Amino acid sequence: MAANDNRRVIAVADPAALAAAAAERVLARMAANNGRVAICLTGGSSPKQLYQLLASDTYRSRIPWQRVHWFIGDERFVPADDPLNNMGMARKTLLDGCAPAANIHPIPTATADPADPDRGAALYEQELRSFYGADTLDPARPLFDLVLMGAGPDGHTASLFPGDPALDETARWVVGVPKANVEPFVPRITLTLPTLASCREMLFELAGGAKRAILTRLFAGENLPANRARSAGETIWLVDRDALPEDFG
Ligand code: 6PG
Repeated sequence: MAANDNRRVIAVADPAALAAAAAERVLARMAANNGRVAICLTGGSSPKQLYQLLASDTYRSRIPWQRVHWFIGDERFVPADDPLNNMGMARKTLLDGCAPAANIHPIPTATADPADPDRGAALYEQELRSFYGADTLDPARPLFDLVLMGAGPDGHTASLFPGDPALDETARWVVGVPKANVEPFVPRITLTLPTLASCREMLFELAGGAKRAILTRLFAGENLPANRARSAGETIWLVDRDALPEDFG
């Protein structure tokens, strides 16, 4: 698969339309792979409506649950049942009750040491490598079918913050982030850019007026983490009307 520096922006009316468009893309990726499917979820508030929609009767029955595996792009050092736990939110809104327990792959922040986030990162890296079946990512065989992403007010994505050396990591698949740039100010564990790039599709969701300022900077091409995240396959940004910069287009 050739490296792909482009991204496609798809404008939608509102958060409901955004969740519906994202849900159709998720299902299309599952349908395109008749083997084991790997989806990398994201945290924050942006994907919540998508998860709720996927859990609704109409969508839930279209998901081949037995052969879909669920990962998470980054996690915060908060207890597993804290509403700010990224996988906890995904479990509560979508996975619990539908996904086989063995198909849910949380980052082990609940048991790892927040003072040594690299240790927890190494454990998750091991889990990803063993799922993938190799120690090196082959561009012809992406790790994930789909990676969901969001962007924060400072242009971070996953837990890759502006100016953090983690952005330049090329060897490790997962790294510890001792200090977050935004709330919650707790250590994090995040997948690195090459790991996130190893997918058939990377799908960003951005909705609401609060995203407009950062989207204006991102679309102007500023060197920010969200602009550096690209799939080796397709990179799609789903943006709703309120988030879209006025001069876009
Ligand atoms: C995290 C997220 C992060 C998120 C953005 C957007 O753990 O903080 O993975 O990268 O996607 O901060 O967050 P919102 O969706 O809450 O705006």
